[in-house]
Amino acid sequence: MFRFSEIVNTTSPLPDEELLEAVAEVMTSQAPDGDSHIPAGYTYLGQFLDHDLTRDVTKNLTFGTVGVTPEQLEQGRSPALDLDSLYGAGPAINPEFYETDRIRLRVGSTKASNFNDKDNRDLRGFDLPRLGSLASEPTDARKAHIPDQRNDENLAVAQTHLAFIRFHNRVCERLSAAGTPSAQLFERARESVTLHYQWLLVHDYLPRIVDPAIVHDVFRRGRVLFERQAQGFPTMPLEFSVGAFRLGHSMIRDVYDWNAFFSPEGDIGDFGTLFNLFIFSGTSGNLSPTPDPDNPLDGEFERLPSNWIADWTRLFDFVEAGVPELAPETAVNFARPLDIRLTDPLKNLPLGSFGARNPAGPQIPRDDKRRNLAFRNLLRGRMVSLATGQELVAAINAALVGVGRSGEQITPLSRTEILGTEFGTLSPAQQDFLATHTPLWFYVLREASLNLINGQPGTGRLGAVGGRIVAEVFHRAIEGSRISLLANPGFSPRLGAVQGVFRMADLLQVAYDASAGELRPLSPAAPRPSLQSLPSGDQQVVVRNLRLTTPLLVGSDVSALQRALNRAGAQLVVDGSFGALTEAAVRQWQGRSDLVVDGVVGLRTRFSLGLQRLLRLQSPRQRGDDVTALQGALERETQVRLQDADGRFDGVFGPRTELAVRTLQGASGLLVDGIAGPLTLRALELVG
Ligand code: HEM
Repeated sequence: MFRFSEIVNTTSPLPDEELLEAVAEVMTSQAPDGDSHIPAGYTYLGQFLDHDLTRDVTKNLTFGTVGVTPEQLEQGRSPALDLDSLYGAGPAINPEFYETDRIRLRVGSTKASNFNDKDNRDLRGFDLPRLGSLASEPTDARKAHIPDQRNDENLAVAQTHLAFIRFHNRVCERLSAAGTPSAQLFERARESVTLHYQWLLVHDYLPRIVDPAIVHDVFRRGRVLFERQAQGFPTMPLEFSVGAFRLGHSMIRDVYDWNAFFSPEGDIGDFGTLFNLFIFSGTSGNLSPTPDPDNPLDGEFERLPSNWIADWTRLFDFVEAGVPELAPETAVNFARPLDIRLTDPLKNLPLGSFGARNPAGPQIPRDDKRRNLAFRNLLRGRMVSLATGQELVAAINAALVGVGRSGEQITPLSRTEILGTEFGTLSPAQQDFLATHTPLWFYVLREASLNLINGQPGTGRLGAVGGRIVAEVFHRAIEGSRISLLANPGFSPRLGAVQGVFRMADLLQVAYDASAGELRPLSPAAPRPSLQSLPSGDQQVVVRNLRLTTPLLVGSDVSALQRALNRAGAQLVVDGSFGALTEAAVRQWQGRSDLVVDGVVGLRTRFSLGLQRLLRLQSPRQRGDDVTALQGALERETQVRLQDADGRFDGVFGPRTELAVRTLQGASGLLVDGIAGPLTLRALELVG
């Protein structure tokens, strides 16, 4: 199993709770947002990768208990940068996260939010997959169907997770098109995704938050402090998970210029607040504007409303990445500067963000200190007796001496530097304690705020203590991954616009089709994303013709075909891959059914196999995803309104749907019979 560890076994006295509460109060009091030089999307890339590395899942431990050892803690993630939070244990063990082809990851659909023509329809591939009707409890219906619910803790991290799902799926498509056999597709895609991810963490993410000289030192000269010559699987040091890497909490903003709707200049206004990013998530909120986000049964939407889809061009800097056409319509959001302040809303976390939703039982009231993120971090440090900043300085210096680098000793922060100007409200004894036994997380943040580039405000990055812990743990976590950049020194990224460079902006351009407007689908100037160009989810209704090709076609539609052929007497292995045996079975079926025997599964063959039904008004009414898709396409093409008052298509073929079919048929010169058959579906571009 995965383990926590510690770099330094502390001998320092523990801070008392009262002091930690007072420090947390200052840290979360009215921090003005301010701007760092780091585009705000990197905050949530940081949260995403943190969830790839570490997760304390210890049970039966009362919050506040002291004297907890690393051995008593349960680590729920492999402390390697291997994307287990994305892939789970892989398709063989966790097929629920995958399409039926067991190669691509599932995506979800947003729900039409009906404000203007940009958001008035469901968009596949723009929300995480959600449990919906698969949930065993109604409280779980909105839960994301992904390996780690923390990746749906706020909308920004949820959309980041979605970007990685899409990235994987697009890499699968590219490899398939380049001839990779379907049996190898998943593993080859995972390898490419993981190597590109690790490359971008080392070259794009780390140097933005850690002093680049330290990153360079660790990746060129190796580790000195943490598991220096360790073999085997890495552990997760508490100095990282409870200390240094919680640095990201200081980067979180109070408000974001989120997209064309939620922006100071947007259609709806300046509501891209952190609070709303919680509300429009499944873990901390209800994907709906509700009076009580802490009650998982409240609210109307069960999927993300379409008008909340992220505009990536406002979260990452595409101009810096060499794509001026993707300059934001307003401006790039920047993360808060790395310092000891946390934005105000983090004083009152939603209960779901720390697993404390309890609709049937007692609630933790607002303003309770257990809702304060700074207090939780500091108290967590006390619980596990985390070494202090000063002890880490000593440990780093000893480690440097140990490797013959005594000339590179680091200097601890001074009392004045640690206390700054903010802690006048503490008693002299408390100030003394804080200055001499500084909680590691606090120390690392203060160090960053002083580590400015050329004295310019907002440029602080992790320094001698924080930077070394973070860079060394990343190094070990890459080394310890089954797929590892360090084991592939010749690897050079190939998926970006420029060979050998791969930034988050490149990853997003692979994951989303910028020319179809997918990076900012709500922007007035962007083309309306075409439903067909989106990656298919399990609710796939846009269909393509299936045939034997090189490389082989793979997908859930092929699996459905194989199952239908088996029902008709064939004996195919349902592997989702259209090979020679599948083609032979198709030909045999076509021969028996008086169809043209060409081995190609077009509309007629599909209808004959029951893979597609005629949609018509009948009793009992037809219902299903195919009807929902038909309704969405009809409303778009005919202006006949089919959504209900909540902006939903009900997926039931009733008289109004028939009217819309007739309207479309009349306008397209088709026989007006109200039945959505092959020609009508083709007119709506719902078939390939
Ligand atoms: C809105 C954004 C975020 C919220 C609401 C949030 C909230 C939380 C909460 C409630 C915890 C558990 C606290 C405890 O009881 O000990 C936690 C843990 C943690 N957070 Fe965040 N966080 C956010 C973003 C980030 C970011 C951006 C980073 C880093 C870049 C980060 C790094 C961590 C780490 C390393 C842990 C410890 C995980 C473990 O080992 O279990 N968080 N966060």
